[in-house]
Amino acid sequence: MCGIVGILGNQSVTSIIMEALRRLEYRGYDSAGIAVLNNGVLSRRRAAGKLDNLAKLLKMDPINGNLGIGHTRWATHGAPTENNAHPHMTDRVAVVHNGIIENHIALRKELTELGQEFKSETDSETIVQLVDYYLKQGHKHQEAAFMALKRLEGAYAIAMIFTSNDNLMIGARHGAPLVVGFGDNEMFLGSDSLAIAPLTTKVAYMADGIWTVIKREGAFFYDMEGKEVSCPIQKTALITGTIGKNGYRHYMEKELHEHPIVIGQTLRRFVNPATHQINLPYLPFKITALKRGIITACGSAYYAGYIGRYWLEEYARLPIDIDIASEMRYRDPPIEGEGMGLVISQSGETADTLAALRNLKKNNQKIISILNNEHSTIARESDVVLGTDAGVEIAVASTKAFTAQLTVLACLTLTIAKVKHKITAEHRDQCLSALLDLPSRVAEVLQLKEKIQEIAKFIANAQSVIYLGRGIMYPVAMEGALKLKEISYIHADAYAAGEMKHGPIALIDHTVPIISVIPSGFLFEKTLSNLQEAKARGGHIIVFTDQRGAESLSPIADKVIILPTVHSFVSPILYTVPVQMLAYEAAITKGTDVDQPRNLAKSVTVE
Ligand code: F6R
Repeated sequence: MCGIVGILGNQSVTSIIMEALRRLEYRGYDSAGIAVLNNGVLSRRRAAGKLDNLAKLLKMDPINGNLGIGHTRWATHGAPTENNAHPHMTDRVAVVHNGIIENHIALRKELTELGQEFKSETDSETIVQLVDYYLKQGHKHQEAAFMALKRLEGAYAIAMIFTSNDNLMIGARHGAPLVVGFGDNEMFLGSDSLAIAPLTTKVAYMADGIWTVIKREGAFFYDMEGKEVSCPIQKTALITGTIGKNGYRHYMEKELHEHPIVIGQTLRRFVNPATHQINLPYLPFKITALKRGIITACGSAYYAGYIGRYWLEEYARLPIDIDIASEMRYRDPPIEGEGMGLVISQSGETADTLAALRNLKKNNQKIISILNNEHSTIARESDVVLGTDAGVEIAVASTKAFTAQLTVLACLTLTIAKVKHKITAEHRDQCLSALLDLPSRVAEVLQLKEKIQEIAKFIANAQSVIYLGRGIMYPVAMEGALKLKEISYIHADAYAAGEMKHGPIALIDHTVPIISVIPSGFLFEKTLSNLQEAKARGGHIIVFTDQRGAESLSPIADKVIILPTVHSFVSPILYTVPVQMLAYEAAITKGTDVDQPRNLAKSVTVE
């Protein structure tokens, strides 16, 4: 979850590393640091907290050099202090690390007994102390690095530079992503291609278990036996240039406003609007023979999968099992025959999701992944990737990637439903028309900002908020609750509305706002009854509904927000937008750090 960058350049690299770290700060912002080689000597600056603190420090106390490494940290082992900030270094070597070294306790003990002096509480420092020890034993830079790498257990992406060697940078990857960038007589390393996007578009995505020796002339790749291996160079698909907020207050606000365009782009990729033909890539199984599917993901991506489950069951009549990836990775479900393993991830690097994917593969499932990063590890390990065209998502709380995932799931559902003859041509056409119309309807929802701000002001004072939904709107409620707690730090929980009476109703009093996503149609009356039960107990009811729903809800609800009327197939996508907006506005009211909420990181590459 930390971000790492390395540059072997022809000019001072400090400011270029700092810019790259800005693009990586979404991965962690507990501390940041940079080390450069100047006249054969390593110098370093580190600061606790956001990257701005490091920038201030560098302004007061600059360092320069043509070779350098940088790091943004999401703390795992050791508090987020300056002392625990990367790069970790000795007189001989400096290292930045993303991941967890699982055998760090044993290594620390061994190295301490051998006379190495540890200065931090981190697992990462064992890497630098190991290399330092081998260097002291007289091994050359490359050799010492290789010997150290072979001793490491756990997950890592590493960049390493050495005293007195201005033409060497070592990179290594095991369970955490690392990309090598090729410039004009200069070379780059980064946790993702976004980090180095404006510097080069020629990149090599390192495979797991590979390490690299980087010189200005190029990069050489080796496996853990020391055998040279190839690593293909690709043109990065990512946009170049600085990724800005385009005048919005936060990335999250900008990304919320990108919902219509992202849904539209994703649809354009798969749907021919003239013929209503959906063109997915070749699926790795015979759809007519498909008996079941298993969906797995984490956080918001899991809620997208949950909505997908309702769709696939209702429209394609396909039985679906679903579980969060941190559970699915250790489950041993009896799975008969080849089925569809559906994996959903914005980053494509989430450690739990990747492990769950591997578990499903081991159980003979063919993996379809829905990913925003099509160069990610999950992409490489999938049988087929269905890409979401959400573009780069910087805010830690996912917004546009979620609706893009739903758009792909909708296309997949209609494809399977058609091939399995579970949907009439007319019904499928209606669903597809509703999907194609969705960007405009979502744009209308974005206009409701002021109304949503009013509600945000009200809930910003609450200690706790309850979200209610039924059927396919239940995961939308879960997404609303997660977003609210994530960025406003208000406790929130989502319940399937019918479940309230089995326990959670005891929580209700006049201080607890109850927010419900309740379009008219199937289950409307049922949810309405549940809201009446809550109202009778003093609950403050806020509803997102449509014009027809508002007629029945107005007498009981304290606040009614009316959304455009849409086909029920696309309701979960449309209703996601206002609950995400509400979380954003509540966070603004509370004055929290919207784009970089405390304790979180965008890409969760640790277990
Ligand atoms: C919530 C959020 C997280 C992610 C989760 C999975 O706003 O962003 O819950 O959805 O960490 O991340 P990906 O999709 O990258 O696998």
